[in-house]
Amino acid sequence: MTDVLARLRALQADDLPVHGGRTLAYVYDSGLPDVDRIGREAVAAYAGSNGLDPTAFPSLLRMENELVGFALGLLDGPDTAVGTVTSGGTESVLLAVQAARDAHPDVEKPRMVLPSTAHAAFHKAAHYFGVEPVLVPVGPGFTADVAATEAAIDKAPDRTVLVVASAPSYAHGVVDPVTELAGLAAARGIRCHVDACIGGWVLPYAARLGRPVTPWTFAVPGVTSISVDLHKYGYAPKGTSLLLHRDSEVRRPQFFASAAWPGYTMLNSTMQSTKSGGPLAGAWAVVESLGDTGYELLSREVFEAVDAIVAGTTDIQGVEVLVPPQSTLVALVTDGSCDAFTVCDEMAARGWYVQPQMSYAGTPPTIHLSVSAATGAHVPEFLQALTASVAAAQEAGPVSVDPGVVAFIEALDPAALTDADFDGLLAASGLVGGSDDGGLALPDRLAEVNALLDLAAPEMREALLVAFLDRLSRPTRG
Ligand SMILES: Cc1ncc(COP(=O)(O)O)c(C=O)c1O
Repeated sequence: MTDVLARLRALQADDLPVHGGRTLAYVYDSGLPDVDRIGREAVAAYAGSNGLDPTAFPSLLRMENELVGFALGLLDGPDTAVGTVTSGGTESVLLAVQAARDAHPDVEKPRMVLPSTAHAAFHKAAHYFGVEPVLVPVGPGFTADVAATEAAIDKAPDRTVLVVASAPSYAHGVVDPVTELAGLAAARGIRCHVDACIGGWVLPYAARLGRPVTPWTFAVPGVTSISVDLHKYGYAPKGTSLLLHRDSEVRRPQFFASAAWPGYTMLNSTMQSTKSGGPLAGAWAVVESLGDTGYELLSREVFEAVDAIVAGTTDIQGVEVLVPPQSTLVALVTDGSCDAFTVCDEMAARGWYVQPQMSYAGTPPTIHLSVSAATGAHVPEFLQALTASVAAAQEAGPVSVDPGVVAFIEALDPAALTDADFDGLLAASGLVGGSDDGGLALPDRLAEVNALLDLAAPEMREALLVAFLDRLSRPTRG
């Protein structure tokens, strides 16, 4: 038995560290080992409980309602407001879109209007639920363009079931003009969802600390729903987000019941039916342990770190902040002297994970940082590593991408590719091949692969990565 746990730990050795504040995407570290331990113990204690039936496991319902209550206190929820714990940001977004669609069974071709910077979860929702996504290019500050949004809504107001805003956007860390967007929506009787999955737990404290924050909560008239993740800046174990609605009427279409079979009547508030009580208990335990005061302290720490990173970056020739961050997310952009993807590789070589973001709509590739409270103690090391990484990237020069491969990719129609084409492309792009068994052989340094993907049209990039995932996801047989 102990052997299995030792093997688990050994398996984890190749993963990114979830503690230590050096992984600046995917994980959010409070830097408080006790809080972390309590969260994990709660997950373990509830791993076998089933959220399928709140009457069978009333403690889960109680914890859910308490979490929602805490969040509504933070986000100016009116007395009518309600909420649901989901498995993550994507599920919250999916349900917000599904509920908006199903609130209008009469609309044959529903559409939603969203800034081009909204999270890809909305594209997934569009794909799953047959809602047309109408993307509105953002303004120069990377926030939603109000006039263009109004024009987009008014092309088909009767078919528009949802207007979306981010607080903040993942890629750039800025908050959309929610007051204006929600106003446009409300004036036309359309729902407005604020996606605060990543920033929703930290922005209220930013405001409390006296930082300028664009209004975005339920205090803004016209905001009908908000998503906010506990497994991000709630510093809870993975697997919990909240979807909050202004009132239960707005939430109702999210619920699903089916008595059309001989078993128990299915009654679900989320996409999952059987669901582990673990993440919910873990989130509840973390929120109870930290409380309002704990989150305020962590927010103070994380914003000190953000400010120090922003200030320190101005001294590094070759890289700068793309747009002043309003939250805890920073997007860095390189000047012509070095390649952003090479900087990411160089940071990785120095023990820091920073996330490459591809070029999009005229914005060059950027480097994403999700700063956690735990990063605060290491900002000087971060800045040293960034200085050295930029210098190394300048020294290395531009990434060379085989023009033959680029031409080959450009000539292909991603919708009509065969499996054999994909194998050739994956090999040519360096994503697969080369290992002894002919399987995946990801290079340590990814700048070339990223540069190639960056040159590919978005549809081709998607197709290549889906083929890559297909090759990754193959059974291991004993
Ligand atoms: C703004 C925003 N929305 C939605 C999501 C999706 O959340 P998840 O990865 O938990 O599904 C994210 C994730 O980073 C996000 O930043």
